[in-house]
Amino acid sequence: MANVHQFEVVVVGAGGAGLMAALYASRGAKTAVISKLYPTRSHTGTAQGGISAALGNYEEDKPEWHTYDTVKGSDYLGDQDAIEFMCEEAIEAVIELEHMGLPFDRTPEGRIAQRPFGGHTNNETGKPVRRAAHAADRTGHMILQTLYQQCLKNKVNFFDEFQILDFLVTDGKTAGVVAVELATGELHTFHAKAVIFATGGHGRIFEVTSNCYAYTGDGLAVLLRQGIPLEDMEFFQFHPTGIFKLGILITEGVRGEGGVLINGVGDRFMTKYAPSVKDLASRDVVSRAIYTEIREGRGVNGKNYIHLDVRPESVNKYAAIDGRTNLDGSAYTITGTQLLAKLPDIIDFCRVYLGVDPVTQMMPIQPTAHYSMGGIPTNKFGEVVIDSNNTPFPGLYAAGECACVSVHGANRLGTNSLLDLVVFGKHAGLKAAEFAQQADYQKLPSNPEAGALFQVEALRTGSGQENAFEINAEMKTIMFDDVGVYRTEKGMKEALEKVWALQERFKHVKVTDTGKIFNTELLSAWELGNMLEVAEVITESALNRQESRGGHSREDYPQRDDKNWLKHTLAWKKDGKVVIDYKPVTITKYQPKARVY
Ligand code: FUM
Repeated sequence: MANVHQFEVVVVGAGGAGLMAALYASRGAKTAVISKLYPTRSHTGTAQGGISAALGNYEEDKPEWHTYDTVKGSDYLGDQDAIEFMCEEAIEAVIELEHMGLPFDRTPEGRIAQRPFGGHTNNETGKPVRRAAHAADRTGHMILQTLYQQCLKNKVNFFDEFQILDFLVTDGKTAGVVAVELATGELHTFHAKAVIFATGGHGRIFEVTSNCYAYTGDGLAVLLRQGIPLEDMEFFQFHPTGIFKLGILITEGVRGEGGVLINGVGDRFMTKYAPSVKDLASRDVVSRAIYTEIREGRGVNGKNYIHLDVRPESVNKYAAIDGRTNLDGSAYTITGTQLLAKLPDIIDFCRVYLGVDPVTQMMPIQPTAHYSMGGIPTNKFGEVVIDSNNTPFPGLYAAGECACVSVHGANRLGTNSLLDLVVFGKHAGLKAAEFAQQADYQKLPSNPEAGALFQVEALRTGSGQENAFEINAEMKTIMFDDVGVYRTEKGMKEALEKVWALQERFKHVKVTDTGKIFNTELLSAWELGNMLEVAEVITESALNRQESRGGHSREDYPQRDDKNWLKHTLAWKKDGKVVIDYKPVTITKYQPKARVY
């Protein structure tokens, strides 16, 4: 046990949730962050279009409208007490970021600029409302930089490029974590009173995804192995507009600025699927509409993509048809120069990766695996809860995409993820510090590194001949094809059999680099094991839920079924099998009704 560190609070992950948690925890407790990436390379940095808050900087808006839109967007599976809490806190959260120095775009009067986003509406008129506070199309990047600077200022201790391998438990309470230092291959034990998981998502289990390479579900798999359940894992969001084949995100902000979706026969098809808000319907609705167009033969050139059109002449034409106006009542128009100022990154991405210039050409796009609504169950204070009675696990917290509070329910509204990570990151940090102030350190297990060492050595010294990259590629295809936007019992049963077969093959993986220094081959193989565990839980949970709701769309059960399925899934891995239970959805003000956009 050469490398043992002691911190009252250890945060795992340095994206927006991890940094916000660390910032708040560090004000009351000795805090460290361990991160597999250099912090400012975390995936939050890719979030583009904005962070939601009913600031009302252009027009009337209220937290109650934001709450209702989020409940409706969640297809009524979100817990309404938590949603209300998040939407009420949103305004203060965004202003706090502004005061920390985040360079938001500005209105002519100098207020924080806001743009419309899917599903965010004026509840009286039903029309889109400008609720997404933005810094061009680099909002996540700016949040990450701002929070990292604040953490440095507050003397948070960072362990960069340390990969968590195990969570330590003593007498049913948190004792710490074990991580490997990538530069040396050495194991490190972090003895902690409280641990906050902020390990992000797992979109890399799908073939086409907007997620970074690091999004392999590590935190979820580590906790699953320690008997912690996962909640609502069947709900995975496909963002409607990823670059064709590459999956790179093209922000919904494009449609917020007036861009429209056009199929292969030149129709603006969203008028058919969501007559009121059209291209700005919630993501599950738009992604399914795109799939339907493609499946019915209206993809572009017979291929699996459609076009996103933000050319100024098209924006101006459709804005006139929709009667879209500026706040002073004048007709809404946009120029190429304004587009470049508002959406610089996505214009660059298209020019670089596709050779397509969005100012003069339409962008080929397809739905891309984007965000997990499910994850580690928590309450609104970030405490991990481990059963249907919401019993907290002492000293364990989670925030951000890896957590399920649940504010997104069956479908997340765009820009609510940045809000989620700021609000619940803060509360997880506060709660963890409060816990650490009154708790003692648990005794470390006698050989704390044993579990981590076993996992790593099994891979390093394995004598099998299976190729991890081939298994990885097969998993991605299976999950994208059969557990993607549309699902059926037959497809998912086959997918599950295949995932089990891949798990068997994984036991015989050959890692050719047996060294210790920056052994990324070994790390990728370990990550593959995590993804296979998570893929199994997603598929089992999706197979089990016999209805369609939000991001879970079953062709064999096309209706939402509130009588039988208005409940959260909890899934454990016990004796090698996924075991499922349920817990009720918290409903306060809004009784479920049909969603109309
Ligand atoms: O479209 C976007 O800019 C993505 C935002 C989000 O996922 O919240």
